[in-house]
Amino acid sequence: TKPLRLGIAGLGTVGIGVVKIIRRQAAMLEARTGRPIVITAVSARDASKDRGVPLSDYAWETDPVALAKRDDVDVLVELMGGHEGAAKDAVEAALTSGKDVVTANKALLAIHGQELAECAEANGRVIRFEAGVAGGIPVIKSLTEGLAGNEITRVMGVMNGTCNYILTQMEATGQGYNALFEECGRLGYLEADPNLDVGGIDAGHKLAILASIAFGTKPAFDDVQLEGIQRISLEDISAAADMGFRIKLLGVAQRTGRGLEQRMTPCLVPANSPLGQLEGGTNMVVIEGDAVEQIVLRGPGAGEGPTASAVLGDICDIARGFRLPTFGQPAEMLQDAPAAQAELP
Ligand code: NAP
Ligand code: HSE
Repeated sequence: TKPLRLGIAGLGTVGIGVVKIIRRQAAMLEARTGRPIVITAVSARDASKDRGVPLSDYAWETDPVALAKRDDVDVLVELMGGHEGAAKDAVEAALTSGKDVVTANKALLAIHGQELAECAEANGRVIRFEAGVAGGIPVIKSLTEGLAGNEITRVMGVMNGTCNYILTQMEATGQGYNALFEECGRLGYLEADPNLDVGGIDAGHKLAILASIAFGTKPAFDDVQLEGIQRISLEDISAAADMGFRIKLLGVAQRTGRGLEQRMTPCLVPANSPLGQLEGGTNMVVIEGDAVEQIVLRGPGAGEGPTASAVLGDICDIARGFRLPTFGQPAEMLQDAPAAQAELP
């Protein structure tokens, strides 16, 4: 059978995780998809770096756009990050050269999702990004496939492992914000620009993507009401605990009579609720639909294995020939949703 040939751009935490799974599980992946999944070429900035896995079997491209256009690549796996520059250029080059794309890049999708979805459709390709939202939790698949018979009424959750780790460890250990922030870097949780994490921006990107899929609207990151965790003090955490609450960076997206509400802000949640019991770098997404009522998805939101797991889910879908549109419905059918206006006093 014809193999599915991958070009992997980005060999950091997630990229190397993907290489490891493909090397370790080649037979299993072939059995599950009906065709071999092979890496033909890779790209990163530094060709001399020891990345802990053998890479000499794969062609090397320093330029990710050249990687995306190679004749021996069927799918570009974009794992570099950033919403401008190399990542966007490589994804566009892949789509316009007739290749499908799998990415973990939520910033790219939250900001340019609409134009990339239209570009994919115009070229008869797909762009998949399960790993971009809540790491190892298959939340996009749940919304687009398992919950396809529901009108979604609300999506909410904790979608940034770094912030949840910092908040829960501040509470458990009384350690300060700076020490915990450094520990997150060592765990591989942090974005290249860590302000994306602690400023709530990364979680806001994820919420904008989920809201778009859930409500059939164009991704509208600029309309997300955002507040990070930088101003949360040990005193705030202990005052919340005294009242039976915990502080979580919580995202909520729902249609209201005033428009589509999207907010990612620190919130008090009851300590004995599922969201209140969430520890460490774990993520939780709660989805409410008219038929299913409520489901709760919980799992690791970051790190090498969990994120690579989600990337492989998308790669396997493409290998099997599943060609769902990017946002669960054709890009041309996505609506502009008016952002919710603030309540009048
Ligand atoms: P990372 O460890 O910083 O790795 C980034 C990789 O991209 C590096 O190999 C780097 O090359 C390469 N790269 C960056 N700019 C490049 C350019 N201009 N040209 C060629 N190569 C370039 O990042 P990561 O943590 O794996 O994250 C990758 C993506 O996954 C990001 O979009 C991130 O938001 C997303 N994501 C990450 C996680 C996670 O847990 N880490 C979870 C979900 C989603 P060098 O190694 O040579 O510098
Ligand atoms: N920095 C992100 C987090 C990585 O902490 O959740 C996963 O998207």
